Amino acid sequence: MRRSRAILTVLTAAAVTAGGFLTLTQAANAATTLGSAAAAKSRYFGTAVAAYKLTDSVYTGLLDTQFTMVTPENEMKWDATEPSQNTFSYTSADTIVARAKANGQRVRGHALAWHSQQPSWVASLSGTALRSAMVNHITNVATHYKGQLYAWDVVNEAFSDNGDGSRRSSNLQATGNDWIEVAFQTARAADPSAKLCYNDYNTDGVNAKSTAVYTMVKDFLARGVPIDCVGFQSHFNSASPLPSDYQANLQRFADLGVEVQITELDIAGSGTAQADSYSKVVAACLAVSKCTGISVWGIRDSDSWRASDTPLLFDASGNPKEAYNAVITAFGGTTTTSSPTTSSSPTTGTGACTATVANNSWTGGFVTTVTVKAGATAITSWKVALTLPTGSAVTSTWSATASGSSGALTFTNASYNGSLAAGASTSFGFQGTGTAFSGTPTCTVS
Ligand code: G3I
Repeated sequence: MRRSRAILTVLTAAAVTAGGFLTLTQAANAATTLGSAAAAKSRYFGTAVAAYKLTDSVYTGLLDTQFTMVTPENEMKWDATEPSQNTFSYTSADTIVARAKANGQRVRGHALAWHSQQPSWVASLSGTALRSAMVNHITNVATHYKGQLYAWDVVNEAFSDNGDGSRRSSNLQATGNDWIEVAFQTARAADPSAKLCYNDYNTDGVNAKSTAVYTMVKDFLARGVPIDCVGFQSHFNSASPLPSDYQANLQRFADLGVEVQITELDIAGSGTAQADSYSKVVAACLAVSKCTGISVWGIRDSDSWRASDTPLLFDASGNPKEAYNAVITAFGGTTTTSSPTTSSSPTTGTGACTATVANNSWTGGFVTTVTVKAGATAITSWKVALTLPTGSAVTSTWSATASGSSGALTFTNASYNGSLAAGASTSFGFQGTGTAFSGTPTCTVS
């Protein structure tokens, strides 16, 4: 609630009423989701996905409606895909890939060769045995996903942070300086259609580390080593802020002839400062024609590897943050505000509740988020009633139980969100086909 208010206050400060907050609505037939706004500018908008969260309907509701690219967060890493030498395990990664395919989303594979998240058996190897194991790993995994991926992070984080442009010392580096090009050649042989990327962090601005990567890419291109793209992780926080030469750095790589992608974006912070940084990242990508897309490293703040930094575009309840609107706007998409739709007269007096809706709509579908707020006294249950437009239907509901799928509907609290302290709020949501409900729902306590 506090965040919603902050978001909307920034958008239209003058329009905020004594009632407390506005409802965000987004015009149909305009680019109103992250994915559609990016697509209107020929970019993708992706997210890291964790297989174990795919049973969470708030998570999948946002994943399916907002994102056009998916990166398995951990499921394609060496420890996940080859837990014992030459025994491969693809169940979790396959689930993510199949689900993405079914939803028309593309997939970035992450990551074939990396010093981290190696299975324990790798630790006993070195020299040619480790080199052969790496080649075997890349061949098997890239072959398994042959033809199915948009891109692979073939090598991840191979340069040091020493400031001298050196390679990171690791067991893979110890097999010989050519391990990176061998990894790329092996990946190309296994899957000629995936774009092959080098991916790293702290390479977002022009610095010794990014220049070392730049020099390597230039060398690879000159010698015919296959490389198609460079990924810039873009994990930003106060110690490592968005650099002022971000766009210039992306551009110098693009000028070499490779695509550039923003692969793991998250920005610590909140409110307008965070939103502004997100806008700048989008603007930088749009200014570089070879910047093909942006992926954030998780959906809700609570999904982040740095959850306490609240670095993502949706809050822990799945509500869009100010940064979300900033991203859509930066892509040239549409967000508009409308009058408050807080129900005017709670029907049960003392202990009553109110409900407001926020819609993300696109041609043929919508996601509605309903915020339920307790009145002056605590409540222990609630019901929200609304009537969907003719021809519309609910296809999934989260954090409430729906009485049906079309027409006049009642949504009853889930077991865990019926009790609200005085003035406290919770939210539930539903996804549907057709046109969203945009009026004022009725909230009652039962
Ligand atoms: O799988 C176990 C689970 O069984 C156990 O219950 C749980 C207890 O905490 O841990 C689970 O494994 C964790 C795994 O994430 C899945 O949540 C690991 O301990 C944890 O180390 C692992 O962290 C991942 C990290 O890479 C490892 O380096 C993060 O999720 C993932 O977001 C992060 O992603 C990296 C990129 O691959 C490369 N760039 C940096 C980025 C952020 O660190």
